Formats: sequence, structure tokens, C-alpha cells
Amino acid sequence: MAEELILVGETKAERYQGLLPQVYALWEVETDLIANLANTSAALHQAFGLLWVGFYLLKGDELVLGPFQGPIACTRIALGRGVCGKAAISKQTIIVPNVHQFEDHIACSSRSQSEIVLPILKDQHLLAVLDIDSEHLNHFDNTDKQNLEALCEFIAQKWK
Ligand code: SME
Repeated sequence: MAEELILVGETKAERYQGLLPQVYALWEVETDLIANLANTSAALHQAFGLLWVGFYLLKGDELVLGPFQGPIACTRIALGRGVCGKAAISKQTIIVPNVHQFEDHIACSSRSQSEIVLPILKDQHLLAVLDIDSEHLNHFDNTDKQNLEALCEFIAQKWK
């Protein structure tokens, strides 16, 4: 296994193109779910200089904090609450350009300015959400959505 990521690309799309195969390779050589979610969050955090990258796992009727990189965060989110809970219920990606304008946003860090949350679905059943926070307004766009949705589909296939 490569011990260090190779980060290439000028544009965001190019950076994803360089990064995602390395993330997929990590999952090919390791079968432990928590280890792979942990390295995935670290890879995204490092590659894009993000404030917070992590997973909330569906446990019963709430989302519980899983592997992440960044400042400490709230540990439990009810389905339907916050951006994470709304993405979980709707099973749709939510991009929040300005968290201060999102009603019911849960502020784990006062430094967070924008956010993207993606559901991880297997056969339309929710497994988890991938939550990413940026210190910059309007950080996330369709390039993030497309690449991260592909990543979440890959994770769902490998989930066990
Ligand atoms: N902002 C999220 C809560 C999780 S933290 O950002 C890590 C939300 O509104 O669901």
C-alpha cells in the first residue's frame, strides 16, 4: 500500500481524478470498514484542505459519528435534523453554500462556512452520510457532487 498520497492537478476535477483511484486502491487492500472510512476521510481532508471530513453512520434511528478528520464534532444527529439528517431522510446530496442561511444547520464548528452532505445508499437503504465542511463560503459545486457521489457509490458496494 502506498504510504503517502500523490496529489496532482491544477483544477478541482483534476485533483479528484488523481485522488480517487488512490482512495479506491486503499479499499482494495484492506477489508476493515472503519479503517477504510478513516483513511478516506484523511485523504479528502489532505487533498482539498478542508475543515472537516467525516462519516455519520446510521445506527437505529439516528446518525452516530464515525471516522473523521478535523475538529471534534457532535456525536449524534437525529434523522431529519441538520444538513446531515435531511440528506439522510431525502437520500439526496445537499450542498449548502452558506451554512448561516440554512435553517436548522447544526454548527459543530464556528469556522464552518459551507457544507456538502451525501447519502451512502445500498439498494436505496441508508448506510451512512459523508459530511464535508469548508471554512470558505460557496466551496462546493457540481464537480464535488459528481465525484463524491461516485465515491459514495463505491463505498456502498464495499460496505460490510
Ligand atoms: N453541520 C452538520 C453537523 C455535523 S458537523 O458539520 C461535523 C449538520 O448540520 O448536520
